[in-house]
Amino acid sequence: MSVVPDFYEGQTRAERIAQLVDREDYFFHKIELPNGIVTPGWSDPKNEKLPHYGLPEDMTGMRVLDIGCAEGFFSFEAERRGAAEVVAIDSHPDGVRRFNICREALDSRVQAHLTSVYDISERTYGTFDLVMFFGVLYHLRNPILALEKIFSVCSGTTLLQTANFENEALGDNSAAEFHPFGIESGPADNRSFDPTVFWVPNAACVRDLMLHVGFVNVEGGNIFPVGAVFRGEVPTATKGTPPDQMKAPWC
Ligand SMILES: C[S@@+](CC[C@H](N)C(=O)[O-])C[C@H]1O[C@@H](n2cnc3c(N)ncnc32)[C@H](O)[C@@H]1O
Repeated sequence: MSVVPDFYEGQTRAERIAQLVDREDYFFHKIELPNGIVTPGWSDPKNEKLPHYGLPEDMTGMRVLDIGCAEGFFSFEAERRGAAEVVAIDSHPDGVRRFNICREALDSRVQAHLTSVYDISERTYGTFDLVMFFGVLYHLRNPILALEKIFSVCSGTTLLQTANFENEALGDNSAAEFHPFGIESGPADNRSFDPTVFWVPNAACVRDLMLHVGFVNVEGGNIFPVGAVFRGEVPTATKGTPPDQMKAPWC
């Protein structure tokens, strides 16, 4: 079903998309849409993130999960790289609405669900060859629970990025800063208070969290100023599969 209503007769599709983008007060992602439209996000993932996050060039046939998709840059990129199916989730309703504008503009098949990472399960979403977990960990009160959930639906590889802090004096020891009341964040020229930042780990802590929940071959580290960027694999990889309809999630 189209999310783009007809606003007035004779209006082109490009004009309608531009109008929908224009109506939004906020975008996180800068995303290039057809007809020269670019969403006015303050994060430029194509240039600032994509080169560092380790997405496979060829994602042909993969089942991919994008957790905390925002307006969907990484979902659409996975689809562009050949993923057979991309499932996107975000816990913020406005994010899913903006995602759907971009989805429509890009003629994408990716579905975005209003779901928290805490609520994913194999029963509801199946398993995934690749899980993308970018920019979410530090927003969570319960990062270990989230990583356990991710491990339970990952049948291949998980890619993770998080804001981090590093302190040479800690050496290789795990540590995380806890911010009970949030932090200042946002673009350098327009800082604002973000009450949704809780745990900011160092890279050693990210590694140990991934090992703790069961990932193996965990690799990565601090990439300044991008954050802590890691990949981990499940011990025995299997093909990602859609949920089994005979195991209904509602019962
Ligand atoms: C900093 S943005 C990261 C967006 C994108 N993944 C990226 O790296 O550019 C964090 C996103 O995570 C979402 N988020 C926060 N808590 C979440 C949760 N518990 N489950 C799913 N998404 C969550 C937010 O709504 C937001 O869209």
